[in-house]
Amino acid sequence: MPVPLFDTSTPLAPLREEIDARIAAVIDRGVFILGPEVAAFERELAAYLGAEHAVGVANGTDAITLALRAMGVGPGDEVVVPSFTFYASAEAIPLTGARPVFCDVDPGTFCVTADTVRAALTPRTKAVIAVHLFGNVAPVAEIEALGVPVLEDAAQAAGSRSPEGRPGALGTAATFSFFPSKNLGCFGDGGAVTTSDAGLAERVRMLRFHGSRDKRTFELVGHNSRLDDLQAGILRVLLPHLDGWCDGRRAAAAAYERAGLGELVELPRAAGDPAWHLYVIRHAAADALAQRLGAAGIGSKAYYRVPAHRQPAMRQWGAGVDLPATEEAARTHLAIPMSPVLSEAQARQVVEAVRDSLTARQ
Ligand SMILES: Cc1ncc(COP(=O)(O)O)c(C=O)c1O
Repeated sequence: MPVPLFDTSTPLAPLREEIDARIAAVIDRGVFILGPEVAAFERELAAYLGAEHAVGVANGTDAITLALRAMGVGPGDEVVVPSFTFYASAEAIPLTGARPVFCDVDPGTFCVTADTVRAALTPRTKAVIAVHLFGNVAPVAEIEALGVPVLEDAAQAAGSRSPEGRPGALGTAATFSFFPSKNLGCFGDGGAVTTSDAGLAERVRMLRFHGSRDKRTFELVGHNSRLDDLQAGILRVLLPHLDGWCDGRRAAAAAYERAGLGELVELPRAAGDPAWHLYVIRHAAADALAQRLGAAGIGSKAYYRVPAHRQPAMRQWGAGVDLPATEEAARTHLAIPMSPVLSEAQARQVVEAVRDSLTARQ
């Protein structure tokens, strides 16, 4: 039996009736924009994370742009961001008028560290984007100790935990994506900004609605970036199941270790208690491995072969930047199957396929 890279439909199947009923209720109510589902989801998400405020926005990329603007980032400022991340983490910065300054990662956790951030700081640094990549928890407190505000990019870390709290409640503000394949995904695009700073939350609320509080006076040049009531209603059905799904992801990671995956490839090192949005291994011949796994029916994917600082649109900020750990991670990483319902038997099957693939190569 093939093992897909991820499985978003099986965990949702038992919730289908509840989801259908919620969609019907929203349609019957006829309030689709900034209605009661969004307000309730914002309260429930903030409570789940341990943050004071959550503001629903249109997607995770807008969430970063709006959060940075609400933090006062603008033209003339620099924002430190890892290059080994989804491109949107960096793309959001020039949209504020600021300049992205790329920093390296720890190749074991794929996350930024206080040291890699320190190397990129200048007197113009206004904020740092700490990406909790693949569900691992970046060391937010250590970065804040450098004296810079931290915006957490928690798009991949819904459901992760750390001794200091959950991603989403660790920095000055945090951003989430509810893209369908995320740990907490809706049925389209969606996102949120979370923070315990009331003023910052208020500025994000204005920015998502054309810079207005009342649709009559427009105080800022803002955006039209709102989470739909339909999506918020669906997310309210899913949120109570997030922790259970993340336990399934952790169990799958443990099954990989028990099956001996660590003897064959470099395993990701856990930072905090990750919810493993993606389970990403490293191997010198990652592309050949992916090809052989594909032939054996095992899904795998290299997400960031070309890191953000080497993307064409980032040329003016990325040229000449030297990030050795990023380059190594970009060359060697490979996501293998991960989902809340990946079974022990499937994990063993994947590990055996990895073993066969690597033996076949020699
Ligand atoms: C780390 C990271 N940041 C930002 C985003 C952007 O989110 P969205 O696709 O909802 O705009 C994503 C996901 O797509 C992501 O994985």
